[in-house]
Amino acid sequence: MAAKDVIILGIESSCDDTSAAILKNGEILSNIVAGQRVHEQYGGVVPELASRAHQQNIVPVIAAAIKEANIQKSAISGVAFTRGPGLLGSLLVGVSFAKSFALALDVPLVEVNHMQAHILAHFIKGEKSPPTFPFICLTVSGGHTQIVLVKDYFEMEIIGQTRDDAAGEAFDKAAKLLGLPYPGGPLVDKYAKEGDPTRFDFPIANVPDYDFSFSGLKTSMLYFLQKETAGDPQFIEKNLKDICASYQSVIIRTLFKKLVKACKANNITTVTIAGGVSANSLLRSELERIGALENWSTFIPPFEYCTDNGAMIAIAGYHHYLQGNFVGQDIVPKARLAF
Ligand code: KG4
Ligand code: ZN
Repeated sequence: MAAKDVIILGIESSCDDTSAAILKNGEILSNIVAGQRVHEQYGGVVPELASRAHQQNIVPVIAAAIKEANIQKSAISGVAFTRGPGLLGSLLVGVSFAKSFALALDVPLVEVNHMQAHILAHFIKGEKSPPTFPFICLTVSGGHTQIVLVKDYFEMEIIGQTRDDAAGEAFDKAAKLLGLPYPGGPLVDKYAKEGDPTRFDFPIANVPDYDFSFSGLKTSMLYFLQKETAGDPQFIEKNLKDICASYQSVIIRTLFKKLVKACKANNITTVTIAGGVSANSLLRSELERIGALENWSTFIPPFEYCTDNGAMIAIAGYHHYLQGNFVGQDIVPKARLAF
């Protein structure tokens, strides 16, 4: 007799994307993401507005995921949700929905760590086979920058991380200073493509071990722009592409300096990237280029699984489900959740 299909509903609501996905035996049937444009005008995510938007989005997003997957609710084997890390009010919406839905369907409830899920997105069935353990993942998002040694699905060790701002924050805050809307990372990437990365100098922070610091970089951008626009109010407009290219280049060089060091020290040659900033075109091309020089096997996630999405929660939930890692109805969200 054929083994029973495992169908997981994955729910993500940790920040400003409400997302749900249906995954069958590791394969994505649907992955619906509702972004929240309400934050654009504020230059960053406003937590109270985010949780309100999640409340509005959650039911239609889940209904759309089930419809697109072309399954009956009763076919769902388990409900996976992001427990943390993230914004408490935002997490609460996804957690509450997941709990009631699992109760109504009488299926197991599975908690997922958002940062582990970014990494496990590499295991969603696709054209390429997934990375083999052990590997190192550079996880770069709006809230985190981590170098993670991944020994097994849920055996992960953070060997380096940012001591202040995340790489995504460094992109977004610079973009805000340049007058670009939130989230500015993709726009900096876009303008940088046509700019000269050697035109302006921004400092690389000197941090020990495999750690990072990006808050000084953001401040250097602020002072640089204050000085230059005092002399020429049109300075940003005239030099936007070169500023973006130079600034982006420093972030990417900083990330690779530590990534190479961490891989050498741990004798690892399977290297992956994950998180929203892994959508960055320079980060992706540099992983290929440096990976070839270092003799790494490299793995780059498809664009749709870089920024926050329900599919990554569903795949992490699927592996928890296979291991029987279930939680009870007394589970609560956790804004700071360790591995
Ligand atoms: O993983 P994610 O969707 O949310 C968090 O868990 O934080 O990451 C969002 C971050 C934002 O800071 C956004 O600007 C950045 O990812 N991002 C990019 C690009 N696409 C998204 N940063 C640089 N270049 C990109 N192409
Ligand atoms: Zn994320």
